[in-house]
Amino acid sequence: MLKVENLRAGYGKVSVLHGLSFEVNRGECVALIGANGSGKTTTLKCICGLLPVEGGTITFHGKPIQNLKGHDIARMGITMCPEGRQVFPEMSVLENLKMGAYARSDAEQNSDFLEMLNMFPILRERSDQQAGRMSGGEQEMPIARIKAKGMTILLVEQNSAMALRLADRAYLYETGEIVLQGTGAELEKNPAIAKAYLGQ
Ligand SMILES: Nc1ncnc2c1ncn2[C@@H]1O[C@H](COP(=O)(O)OP(=O)(O)O)[C@@H](O)[C@H]1O
Ligand SMILES: [Mg+2]
Repeated sequence: MLKVENLRAGYGKVSVLHGLSFEVNRGECVALIGANGSGKTTTLKCICGLLPVEGGTITFHGKPIQNLKGHDIARMGITMCPEGRQVFPEMSVLENLKMGAYARSDAEQNSDFLEMLNMFPILRERSDQQAGRMSGGEQEMPIARIKAKGMTILLVEQNSAMALRLADRAYLYETGEIVLQGTGAELEKNPAIAKAYLGQ
């Protein structure tokens, strides 16, 4: 579904991604793990059209998307969900859901909202409340439920142990390159990863 090949990008003269490649198949949850500053967020920015791609290709359903505009990429069906509690705090819960659905047709939005309200019933009770008043836990989407729905996920998560438990496959970043890949279970057992990321 998503294929990144020889991706190169950076900030001005600073090169961050040095030609990395990975892919995500339909229905998979793929995790990117690695130390702070290794280039995970930079990769996501390139995929979403928020940072220029300097080399390589990104294909989505077989079509090249590198350097398309961010809003066009969003309309093709790629969405970045920020980590943590980054809701629009002054807007209501329902308005926040609508922001996330702006690229969907009215009919699709109605069925999406029903599905979300059924999946997360608390949202129904709180739909008129200011989103910033939700508790910490309520503001974070339980990603396991989204995965169970068959959504294709590229997961970048500070908590490597949780990422590897959830992921079908994972890639380990080191200074802008992928140095290891495997199933979540394989990487969880890998001594180098256990030592560096899982605190074992
Ligand atoms: N806006 C920016 N300007 C310059 N350098 C940046 C910027 N954002 C990130 N970097 C640098 O790019 C590298 C990769 O950062 P990032 O992709 O955020 O890593 P990660 O998400 O894996 O922690 C780091 O060295 C970081 O300092
Ligand atoms: Mg990051």
